[in-house]
Amino acid sequence: MRHFLDVDDLKPSELARILNLATDPKPPQVLAGRGAALLFEKPSARTRSATELAVVQLGGHPVYIGPAEVGLDQRESVEDVTRTLACYNAVIGARVFAHSTVERMAAVSEVPIVNLLSDHAHPTQAVADLLTMRAESGHLEGLTLAYVGDANNMARSLAYAAGLSGMALRIASPAGYAFKESDLRRMRRHGCEPVQVENPDDAVRGADVVYTDVWASMGQEQEAEKRRQDFAGFTVSRRLMAQAAPRAVFLHCLPAHRGEEVEAEVIDGPRSRVWPQAANRMHAARGLLLWLLEQGG
Ligand code: CP
Ligand code: NVA
Repeated sequence: MRHFLDVDDLKPSELARILNLATDPKPPQVLAGRGAALLFEKPSARTRSATELAVVQLGGHPVYIGPAEVGLDQRESVEDVTRTLACYNAVIGARVFAHSTVERMAAVSEVPIVNLLSDHAHPTQAVADLLTMRAESGHLEGLTLAYVGDANNMARSLAYAAGLSGMALRIASPAGYAFKESDLRRMRRHGCEPVQVENPDDAVRGADVVYTDVWASMGQEQEAEKRRQDFAGFTVSRRLMAQAAPRAVFLHCLPAHRGEEVEAEVIDGPRSRVWPQAANRMHAARGLLLWLLEQGG
């Protein structure tokens, strides 16, 4: 049995298999008569719907659990909630504040744990993004991804997804918002070596894909104003997009703040692929669930 807490839980061949399973037009009904618990400590538009529908497409029954319902570590410990949910469900997905919560779940779970976003990683989004990039270019190996913004949960999962797929990653972040040495060391161990710069132009020049995310993630709302100041100059604008390769596309995991990390003319413009990107969340979730259940989940 395997868990999926970040993309670096996978070997390159396993990641490639998940992408191929995601495009299976007649997926086997591996969840027939079984439940999938989806536990959320934070809001979600895409992840909840995409994962629920992926479960349905595999014949299963999604069980959504909102933040107030189980009271992680308040009404009951994370470990006991996990052991309980594993009695009825073939898989448990969780969107949490602290990454240590999904690690604690994985440590005691009898069924696969899927990280549906933590403060550290957003791996199901990164897998979906590979599908979007592959659909655009026909391949992943050799592509250059430029990420402009916070070296956050999204950037970290993208770094592994890109590295394991043979892509180059250049990331532009303001001083103090880049990957720490501990992250870089772990990325190098997986053959992922992002180039970090402070000037967005240096990241975007000639890139095939330009990606950004919000400047203040869920849980960082109190830092939003300071971050707006610190990230000034890091907006993905039409001028910045013009530095990328001629057929470059723009991606954003969403939700987006037009006028902050991206200009409306870019995200709503001809190079944006954010809606196919959102749609791919469901296909990627299906591929991931199929793979986890193949592993004995
Ligand atoms: N991209 C993403 O995870 O969206 P939600 O927060 O709406 O699930
Ligand atoms: N970095 C963002 C991603 C949202 C999908 C957050 O954690 O809020």
